[in-house]
Amino acid sequence: MADLSTTYLGLKLKSPVIAGSSPLTDNVKSIKKLADAGAGAVVLKSLFEEQIMMDVDALQVNNMHGSYDDIENLATYFTKQKSINEYLTLIKETKNTVDIPVIASINCLSPGEWVEFAKKIEKAGADALELNIFLMPAALEFTGTDYERTYFDVIDQVTKKINIPIAIKLGSYFSGMANFLHRLSQTGISGIVLFNRFYDTDIDIEEQILTSRSYNSHAADNSNVLRWIGILSPHVSCDLAASTGIVNGDTVIKNLLAGAQATQVVSAILTHGAGEITKMNTRLNAWMDEKGYSKTAEFIGKLNQKEVKKPILFERTQFMKYFSNLDYVSPK
Ligand SMILES: Cc1cc2nc3c(=O)[nH]c(=O)nc-3n(C[C@H](O)[C@H](O)[C@H](O)COP(=O)(O)O)c2cc1C
Repeated sequence: MADLSTTYLGLKLKSPVIAGSSPLTDNVKSIKKLADAGAGAVVLKSLFEEQIMMDVDALQVNNMHGSYDDIENLATYFTKQKSINEYLTLIKETKNTVDIPVIASINCLSPGEWVEFAKKIEKAGADALELNIFLMPAALEFTGTDYERTYFDVIDQVTKKINIPIAIKLGSYFSGMANFLHRLSQTGISGIVLFNRFYDTDIDIEEQILTSRSYNSHAADNSNVLRWIGILSPHVSCDLAASTGIVNGDTVIKNLLAGAQATQVVSAILTHGAGEITKMNTRLNAWMDEKGYSKTAEFIGKLNQKEVKKPILFERTQFMKYFSNLDYVSPK
C-alpha cells in the first residue's frame, strides 16, 4: 500500500482528494460519510459575506423604531444571525466528529468589516480558511488592475486578523494570470485553489430565455486547471489545489503530476456519492504501486512546466500547431 498522504496549507492530509465546498459539506452527517470514504480534508459550504455583514450590523438593530421595514430587517437579521451561529456550530461539531482537517469557507466580494468574522471561524476550531473570491470583470469602467486590487485588499485584511492558513479560491478570468497569481502567492497566503466553476450561461432557443448548463463537470473541464497548475506550480510561493473536473483517479494523478499538492472534488460526489473518493484513492494507490512510487512527494510536480522536456506544450493553444507538429502525442 503506497503512502497517499500529502501536505496542503501546512496540514498533513492522508489523501490528496479533498471534498470541496458544496451542499454535501454543510452538515456533519454528510461530511462524516465523505471522511469515511477517505477524503483527505473537507471544505465546508461557503458562508456568504452578506450573511456575515448582518452580524456586523447588529448594533443597527437597536436603533430600529418599529416601522414595517424595521420589523422586516429584524426578521432578516435574526435569520442571518442564526445561520452564522449555525456555521460556527458546524465547524465545532465537524471537528468533534471527523479526524481530517476542516477548512471553513467564506464567499466574499470586497474587503470590509465582515473580516472580523474570520476570527470567530478560527476560534471555532477550523484548521484553515478558504476565501472564495469572485468578481465577474463585467464593469466597463474597471480595468484588470482595479479588479486585482480588490483581491489584494481582501487578503491584506484577513491575513492580519487570523493565524490559521488561508487559501484563495479563484475563477479563471484574469488577463495577466501568471503575474497576478505569482504576486498573490507572495502575500502570506498558504494556498490557491484553481479554479472555481460557475454557472455556465446558455440559451434555451425554444423558450428564448437565458438558462444554465448543469453543474456536472467532466474530465475535459479539467484541462484549463491542469495547464495553469503546470505553468504556475514551479513559481508560486504557496501550495496549489486543483478544482474543476476532478472526476476520477486519473484526473487526481494528472493534477499531482502537474504540481498540485491536493485536488478538490464536488460534481463527482454530488452525482455518484462519497464512494467516488474511495475509488479515486484506490486508483491512485494502484497507479503508484505500478509506477514504483511509495510517496506522493516523489511525483508531485514531476510534469510541471519546469520539469517537462517540452515546456512550450503547456502554452500551446493554437490548433495549427496540433496539425503541423509531428512530435505531438495525440490523445488516445
Ligand atoms: C451545487 C454546488 C454548490 C457549490 N457551492 C460552493 C460554495 O458554497 N463555495 C465554493 O467555494 N464553491 C462552491 N461550489 C463550487 C465547487 O466547490 C467546485 O469548485 C466546482 O463545482 C468545481 O468542481 P467539480 O468540477 O468537482 O464540480 C459549488 C458547486 C456546486 C456544484
